[in-house]
Amino acid sequence: MSPNILEVCGLNKRFGGLWATRDLSFILEEGEQSAIIGPNGAGKSTFFNLLSGYHPVDSGKIIFNGRDITNQLPHHIARAGISRAFQVSNIFSKLTVLENIRSAVQSRMGRTFDLFSKADRIGREETERILSLCLLTSKRKIPAGELSQGDKKKLELALALAGKPKLLLLDEPTAGMSLEETRETMSLVDRLNQEFHLSILFTEHDMNVVFSHAYRITLLHRGEVIVTGRPEEVRRNEKVQRIYLGERPE
Ligand SMILES: Nc1ncnc2c1ncn2[C@@H]1O[C@H](COP(=O)(O)OP(=O)(O)OP(=O)(O)O)[C@@H](O)[C@H]1O
Ligand SMILES: [Mg+2]
Repeated sequence: MSPNILEVCGLNKRFGGLWATRDLSFILEEGEQSAIIGPNGAGKSTFFNLLSGYHPVDSGKIIFNGRDITNQLPHHIARAGISRAFQVSNIFSKLTVLENIRSAVQSRMGRTFDLFSKADRIGREETERILSLCLLTSKRKIPAGELSQGDKKKLELALALAGKPKLLLLDEPTAGMSLEETRETMSLVDRLNQEFHLSILFTEHDMNVVFSHAYRITLLHRGEVIVTGRPEEVRRNEKVQRIYLGERPE
């Protein structure tokens, strides 16, 4: 068995009287690609916000790569190796695709580019690698604001990769995409997992995507874990079927 890259224990988060996550415990093995599902308001995005430090937790613990990162600041968590993709706010719409990726690589390297230094050569090579991996080489000169929805998502993924993460959090990576864009994006996600051994946790409403791209699925409902298991176990689970039919589990 692989070591765990992420161990979450008894995570609680309340907004007023509402439990967004409740006694949420969760494990992700290193190199695993896993999905969090659940109806609207189940607590999926809140879980990601807690993992990446965007919201403080009320109680509970988050251990990442053997380190307690509970309630650390977002940029500390990003530096530790958790990147979050598909936040449109990361994109500078007036900059080109290339400039966006280059500035994300630079910001990770913590310095400005100098045309002749070795670090800059490495930075440029890395920028090119990310462009090519995310199928954006031909779009490099286009201002990000002019990209199609699908290409914007690819750029968001590219920006997350520029942080050299060990764990990628993808919140609804295919939302708003056409069938073709969905296929393309998810095959890129699979490649990052299989070829580059990135651990990946994603949320998704499209059950076809979930069942064909996750090794393990965890269902959240009202902030609580209802079931976690292999796709075939989750598909058969009665509570899962009831929740998706809109009834309340026991
Ligand atoms: N910043 C916030 N302030 C107050 N309530 C919040 C906040 N963020 C989330 N909530 C509430 O917490 C609950 C969980 O929301 P969350 O966004 O995590 O759900 P979700 O599973 O991501 O839903 P969706 O599938 O619609 O994206 C909801 O009831 C939501 O209204
Ligand atoms: Mg959400």
